[in-house]
Amino acid sequence: MTIAETERAPKTPATPASTLTLRDDRTGKSYTLPIEDGTINASELHKIRATDDDPGLFTYDPGFTATAAVKSAITYIDGDQGILRYRGYPIEELAEASGFLEIASLLLEGELPTDQVLAEWRDEITHHTFIHENIKKFIDGFRHDAHPMGILMSTVAALSTFYPEAKQIGDADARRKQIVRLIAKMPTIAAFAYRHAIGLPYAYPDNDLGYTGNFLNMMWKTTELQYRPDPILERALEVLFILHADHEQNCSTSTVRVVGSSRSDPYSAVAAGIGALYGPLHGGANEQVLRMLEEIGSVDRVPQHIERVKKGELRLMGFGHRIYKSYDPRAKVIKRVADDVFRVTGRNPLLDIALELERIALEDEYFVSHKLYPNVDFYSGIIYQAMGFPTEMFPVLFAIGRTPGWLAQWEEGLLDPEQKIARPRQIYTGPALRHLE
Ligand code: CMC
Repeated sequence: MTIAETERAPKTPATPASTLTLRDDRTGKSYTLPIEDGTINASELHKIRATDDDPGLFTYDPGFTATAAVKSAITYIDGDQGILRYRGYPIEELAEASGFLEIASLLLEGELPTDQVLAEWRDEITHHTFIHENIKKFIDGFRHDAHPMGILMSTVAALSTFYPEAKQIGDADARRKQIVRLIAKMPTIAAFAYRHAIGLPYAYPDNDLGYTGNFLNMMWKTTELQYRPDPILERALEVLFILHADHEQNCSTSTVRVVGSSRSDPYSAVAAGIGALYGPLHGGANEQVLRMLEEIGSVDRVPQHIERVKKGELRLMGFGHRIYKSYDPRAKVIKRVADDVFRVTGRNPLLDIALELERIALEDEYFVSHKLYPNVDFYSGIIYQAMGFPTEMFPVLFAIGRTPGWLAQWEEGLLDPEQKIARPRQIYTGPALRHLE
C-alpha cells in the first residue's frame, strides 16, 4: 500500500481504525497513511514533500525507541504486561521444563524438537565443542589480565578465518554448520579465556557431559579424572542460559542483524554482537551490579546510594529497561534460581544489600514514577558469584546464553526478502559549504 494524498484517495478508503491522516501545514495537503501492525511505514512518510526538490520527510529516532526495523517471528515481548515468549511459549514454562539446547533448536527452527531431533542436535553440538589448536595459541597471545569478553569477541571474530566457507551465507548447509560451530564452541572459548587469565591449563571438552555441565567442566576441572558438576548448579546455570537466549531487537541482536545485513559471515556478525553486549548498559550491567553492591558494602549504606542515584550522580545498575515497564519476567525466575543456588553454595552476603536496594527502590517515588524495576542482570551476578565465577566472566556467560538468539535473528534477517543493508539516515548539523582560503 502506498500513501495517498486525500484529493486522490481511493474510492474505498481503509477503515478509520487502520489509517492515519496527516496534514502538512507547509503545503496544506493531507495524507492518509495505512497503519499495519501498529506501525506506519516510514518510507510512505518519506514520500511527503513540501516542494519538488524537497528530499522528503524522515523520522528522527535516536536509539530506535519508536522504530520497528524488522519483522520477526522469534520472540514476543509485552513490556507493559511483563511478558516474554520464545516462539509463543512463555519464558516461565520454558525455564521450568526445557533444556538450553532444546531452546536453541526452538529459536532456530521455530518448533520444539522431537526427542529424536533433539538427540541428533545434541550429538551434533557435542561433536563440535573442540577448537582448533591454533585458536588456543591465539588465546595464549592475550595478556594475563585481558578481559575475557575481549578475548571472546576477538576469538569469535578469528573463527571466520578458520572456516572460510562461512562466507557462503546463501547456502543453507553452510549456514547450519557455522550455527552449530558457534553454539558448540562458545563455552569452550569462554572457559579457555578464563583459564588463560588465571594461568591454569585449558580443560578440554568432555563429551559425556551435557552442554552446561561440560562448560562447568572446562571452567573448574583440575586433577580429577572426570569432573562431575553439581546437578543443582548445572540446572541453575542452564536456566540462566535459557533466560538470556533471546530478547528480540536489543542492542547486541540489532548489531548482529546490522552486520549480517551487509552479508558478512556469522562469526563477524556475532563478534560484533559480543562487542555490543560488552557495554555496561547492556550485558555488561551484571558485572556493574556486582561492583556497585561491593562498593555499597553494607545494608545501612543503601539509602545513601539511592539518594546519589536520584540526584543523577549514578544509575542503579540492574534496574530499568527500555521495554519492560512493569517488571522483567526473567528477574522473577532468577530470584527462584537464586534460592536453589544458595542452598548449595550458602547465601551470598551481597544478597542482603541487593534485597534492601530493591525494597527501597520499589517504594521510592523516583523509581516508581520512572517505572524502574530490577532487570535480568540485577540478581544474575549474585548467583554467578555464589557459583564461583569471577565478575569479569558475567557478561561472557550472558554471551553464551544469547548466541542461539543472535544466530536465529541473523538467519531470519538474511532470509527476509524485505530486509536491506542497514543504512540509517542522519540530520546533518555541520558547517554549510565553505572553501579553503
Ligand atoms: N537508574 C536510575 N535512573 C534510571 C535508570 C537507572 N538504572 N534507568 C533509567 N533511569 C532514568 C533515566 O535517568 C531517565 O530519567 P529522566 O527521564 O528523568 O531523565 C529515565 O529513567 C529514562 O531512562 P533512559 O536512559 O532514557 O531509558 P532507556 O530506555 O534508554 O534505558 C536502560 C534503558 C536499560 C539502558 C537503563 O534503564 C539503564 O541504564 N539501566 C541500568 C543498566 C542496566 O541494568 N542494563 C541492563 C538492561 S537488561 C539486560 C540487557 O538487555 O542487557
